[in-house]
Amino acid sequence: MKRRPLIVGNWKMYKSIPETITLVNVIKAGLYKVAGVDVAVCPPFTSLKAASETLEGAKIDLGAQDMCSEVEGAFTGAISPLMLKDVRCRYVILGHSERRKIFGETNGEINRKISTALRFSFVPILCVGETLEERESKRAFEVVKEQFDTCLIGLAASDIERVVIAYEPVWAIGTGRTATPEQAEQMHSYIRRLLKEKYGEVVSERVRILYGGSVKPDNIALLMAKSNVDGALVGGASIKGESFIQIVTNALPEPLLEPVRR
Ligand code: PGA
Repeated sequence: MKRRPLIVGNWKMYKSIPETITLVNVIKAGLYKVAGVDVAVCPPFTSLKAASETLEGAKIDLGAQDMCSEVEGAFTGAISPLMLKDVRCRYVILGHSERRKIFGETNGEINRKISTALRFSFVPILCVGETLEERESKRAFEVVKEQFDTCLIGLAASDIERVVIAYEPVWAIGTGRTATPEQAEQMHSYIRRLLKEKYGEVVSERVRILYGGSVKPDNIALLMAKSNVDGALVGGASIKGESFIQIVTNALPEPLLEPVRR
């Protein structure tokens, strides 16, 4: 089954509001004719409203980089799903390795966030991936399985269909060292197998599995050529307009050009 490709830009802690408006305008102009691929940008929280307004009329979606599992209350510094609805986010990245490592997020917390995200009709992008040490000690598959199992506890097959999974080997993030297309495919097909075992064939064939970790305009095509790689979660290369545009266009074998949707 052919899944619709998805390219997501994770801007991390970069871009002021004016810089966001400039970058979104560049991306919008560069991609206005590209079809056959879903595209989303995930600026920092303070830029979401400006990005949302600037994206008006474009076929590019907005996403957040994290979200609180609670809806309202005394949670200093946290951002609620209602607030993300306010600015018309469609996606929310959850369990990014930087959140896990720097902010101590656990699989259990990520699981609660995913449930909340689904309850509010967001598309959660669940990040999984092993560290270099885990890969070298041949535990990569075991670690990803543990993240997969725990982060998705309690979710029904109908929920899982709406989840996007991003395989991001930690050793490839921001390092310039990309997993080879074969390494990516090996883990993606393993994740697809886990999906099939737990939620059945139909669901497993519908879930999009993105690759993340030093994705660039010159390596995206070979990654996308693998049958279980359905798109990319792009960090560093997504905050430069030209490179993000090229990643999106190079992700498709033959970019379809069609008139603007709205
Ligand atoms: P990178 O980051 O593309 O800069 O390696 C990917 C990510 O952290 O999602």
